Amino acid sequence: MPAYDLIIRNARIVTVERVTEGDIAVKDGVISAIGKASGDATREIDAGGKFVLPGGVDSHVHVAQKSGMGIMCADDFYTGTRSAVFGGTTTIIPFAAQHRGMSLRKVVQDYHQEATPKALIDYAFHLIISDPSPQVMGQELPALIKDGYTSFKIYMTYDALKVTDYQLLDILALARKEGALVMVHAENHDMIQWLAHHLVEQGHVAPKFHAIAHARVAEAEATNRAISLARLVDAPMLIVHMSEIEAIDTVRQARAKGLKIFAETCPQYIALTADDLDKPDVQGAMWCCSPPPRDSAAQEAVWAALKDGTFDVFSSDHAPYQFNEGGKIPKGLKTTFKEMANGVPGLELRLPLLFSEGVQKGRIDLHQFVALSATNHAKLYGLYPRKGTIAVGSDADLAIWDDKKDVTVRWTDLHDNVGYTPYEGRRVTGWPVTVISRGRVVVENGTLNAEKGSGQFLKCVTPDASRPLGRAAPEMTKMASFGARPLF
Ligand code: URP
Ligand code: ZN
Ligand code: ZN
Repeated sequence: MPAYDLIIRNARIVTVERVTEGDIAVKDGVISAIGKASGDATREIDAGGKFVLPGGVDSHVHVAQKSGMGIMCADDFYTGTRSAVFGGTTTIIPFAAQHRGMSLRKVVQDYHQEATPKALIDYAFHLIISDPSPQVMGQELPALIKDGYTSFKIYMTYDALKVTDYQLLDILALARKEGALVMVHAENHDMIQWLAHHLVEQGHVAPKFHAIAHARVAEAEATNRAISLARLVDAPMLIVHMSEIEAIDTVRQARAKGLKIFAETCPQYIALTADDLDKPDVQGAMWCCSPPPRDSAAQEAVWAALKDGTFDVFSSDHAPYQFNEGGKIPKGLKTTFKEMANGVPGLELRLPLLFSEGVQKGRIDLHQFVALSATNHAKLYGLYPRKGTIAVGSDADLAIWDDKKDVTVRWTDLHDNVGYTPYEGRRVTGWPVTVISRGRVVVENGTLNAEKGSGQFLKCVTPDASRPLGRAAPEMTKMASFGARPLF
């Protein structure tokens, strides 16, 4: 009987702290030795000196979810996790989304029914709360937090989803009391509505006007307001999918004051601009997401914030809609920018884009890459050290990277169900060639080898001081200490 199930030999093992040359030995899905692995294994892989990184953790993913406008995502838990794993991501945290009037408990049950038979890799859930009723706030949410759903997303915009500032304060106070984390989509709803109304009135309905209606100041104002609300109740908060210079500065300043504010950005804000929405007819809808991509100056601000640790996590915000009447363009060529489904796909290309544009171009280092792509996600959302790192006792979720592999992105080579990629034709250098999930070699030589339903549900735990965050955010050791505390 071999001592191990798997040994990866001759690896350059990268974590947030260091690069170690050696072997990784795996038994029962868990890393059981790192260094010089003596003993044999059922299977050996020679990494040939390539980097071996923690499998990515993508903490902002929409799969099998209906948008606020009632449009179903193009990816379910099979195609979504298939796309994830081909891109080096081995854990996803999608949303269980409550629409108004729904029981949160029932919503969670429904998402489990979707995920259980289909997921190829492990997953947790964030909740989306659009209806913080007395039942939700008094019973369902506290019980769900205890059951492992410890983070929830709140919208400040979208008619069907947005909560009032008063409701957000209630939710923040509850999060503080229970030790949970509130994620906020920060855009000023009325500013967007007002601009959109006047644009449409004047016949400006093409996709490019989406980027004008979702003005930078709308993101800046809402970010500032959200942080002020968090400050009032001394609750932690994470601002999702940030795109904009002033909003990023607001986060940086809040953190300098010692506020427990965390922040996320996404591939679309390093790799796309508003010009991408300016295409004939309604084709620009393929690049439509909220907040919209901005310009090269905003991209530079995003890179600066990735480098200096203002951003803790780099997530895909994979929001997949096909370019047809059941997806992006419900009214075909007549679809106005107000009616387009918001969101772009990015699960599979998240890590290659960050590696190629970030590490290869010297904007961030390898350790920051690991922190931003895996470790900080696991720490923030209560999955560390099981996920997000390479350590004895952690799940053997690994990606062997060929840092010299040049790939020209073609949707036909990707594994989602979207039908297009906003990054078509782009060249990236660096690609995960072998991907391992709990010791199973799930992607190798471009082939998938994982059973539908083999992904497992992960319960998140509420953060505590014993889980300091990574090098990309040095001051977060202190900030991560948001244990449960009653407000009153
Ligand atoms: O445009 C986006 N980002 N759509 C997805 C839903 C969301 O707000 O994250
Ligand atoms: Zn959002
Ligand atoms: Zn999203």
